[in-house]
Amino acid sequence: MGGAHPQRGLRAGAPRRLAGAVARGHRRLGSAGALALLLTACSAGGSGGGGVAHNHGTPSIPAADGLPRMVVPADNPYTEAKFELGRALFHDTRLSGNGTQSCASCHEQARAFTDGRPLAIGSTGQTHPRNAQPLANAAFHATLTWANPTLVTLEHQMEVPLFGTDPVELGITDANMPEVLGRFAADAKYVELFAAAFGGGSGQITIGNIIKAIATFERGLTSADSRYDRYLAGKAVLTESETRGMQLFMGEKAECFHCHGSFNFNDHIRYVGQGRVETPFHNTGLYNMGGTGAFPYPNRGLFEFTAQAADMGAFRAASLRNVALTAPYMHDGSIAALEEVLDFYAAGGRNVTNGPLAGDGRRNPYKSDLIGNISLTAQDKTDLVAFLRTLTDDTLVTSARFAKPSWLP
Ligand code: HEC
Ligand code: HEC
Repeated sequence: MGGAHPQRGLRAGAPRRLAGAVARGHRRLGSAGALALLLTACSAGGSGGGGVAHNHGTPSIPAADGLPRMVVPADNPYTEAKFELGRALFHDTRLSGNGTQSCASCHEQARAFTDGRPLAIGSTGQTHPRNAQPLANAAFHATLTWANPTLVTLEHQMEVPLFGTDPVELGITDANMPEVLGRFAADAKYVELFAAAFGGGSGQITIGNIIKAIATFERGLTSADSRYDRYLAGKAVLTESETRGMQLFMGEKAECFHCHGSFNFNDHIRYVGQGRVETPFHNTGLYNMGGTGAFPYPNRGLFEFTAQAADMGAFRAASLRNVALTAPYMHDGSIAALEEVLDFYAAGGRNVTNGPLAGDGRRNPYKSDLIGNISLTAQDKTDLVAFLRTLTDDTLVTSARFAKPSWLP
């Protein structure tokens, strides 16, 4: 059924959207072919005369070939000078109150900008309630983090790791801010980079400009060179198992494409020229504490913002680009390996049999109807994992362009 499922409105099991989003027909890609078509259209045009510009009018973001055009705030246009400054700041532990942690401590390039831990740990040792997310193509996400409808720009999101106190991440406060800024003002290389990015004078070394520069680095942090991208561009072949996995992923038996069906392998994206921006959140049946549908505080998803029962456990679908590198999985890192994620989907949710989180997530009353429809054989699971492994972009994780600059201590 190529038209996909009808919009279900606001009842249990329906994707949870932001207040104000207009209920409407399902506009996401409705068939396997559509995903391939979109991806092909986006990656087309590279070769030969007459090809359209690679990144659809965002020529200033060099690594964005094959992706749609990114929405960039008018007050923070993309420049390479800001990208270079932002790259250094992103990797620099001087950007934390106690000088021990940088963005890269939790977002490591080699792990597709995640940290390999179930739950992140901040600069003062506090455990974050959630799993660190990958950052490639994050600039395309319509809302940021696992389930926060209020964070819609990278600039705004960054206030959380910089200044957050519950938990402390980088731990910058009003009290230590002068010291933190002073560290950069005292470094001739930074004085040079700030001048190149924002104009001369040490007055440019402000937290506002730091945020603009790192957001620019994040916009440049794009991923579109996986084996799957190359396959779509006719430059790589997939094995039989990977091909079967791709067909399953995009079909109605595994249902994955409904929630992971964009060029970024989720359903929560924003780009220039898109029709309407969709911001769905889904309950996948990970928990059902005491049989009430409850997820553990403070990981109740959209419910933390709306306090509406139907939003319980509703999270943004993760982008699956580079997913083979981003274990462990889910908002709380509670699934260790991709094979286990597939077991979870094949079971239609997770039955937690003992302890304080006990409850049968397969029967969570707020679970998306799609999850219950998934049926997979052992071979299907193997093939799906093989397909997911084709989404790894070696360029992203090895490119010097995204790495810690060699001059940094
Ligand atoms: C202590 C570890 C830690 C540090 C340090 C950290 N992050 Fe994160 N990051 C996380 C976690 C955990 C999440 C998921 C947060 C959530 O869902 O509440 C996240 C999410 C994000 C997201 C959302 C991605 C998406 O797809 O929506 C962005 C963007 C981000 N971080 C950027 C940064 C930047 C920039 C810095 C440095 C200024 C930084 N982070 C520092 C742990 C960290
Ligand atoms: C109803 C929407 C929906 C469907 C259908 C769906 N997913 Fe998901 N997926 C999500 C959501 C939401 C999350 C995050 C859940 C959480 O952390 O609570 C997720 C997380 C994942 C993750 C973990 C990624 C990470 O970085 O933590 C993988 C892998 C994944 N899905 C693969 C699949 C595959 C393969 C299929 C098809 C068999 C599928 N999904 C079907 C919504 C969906």
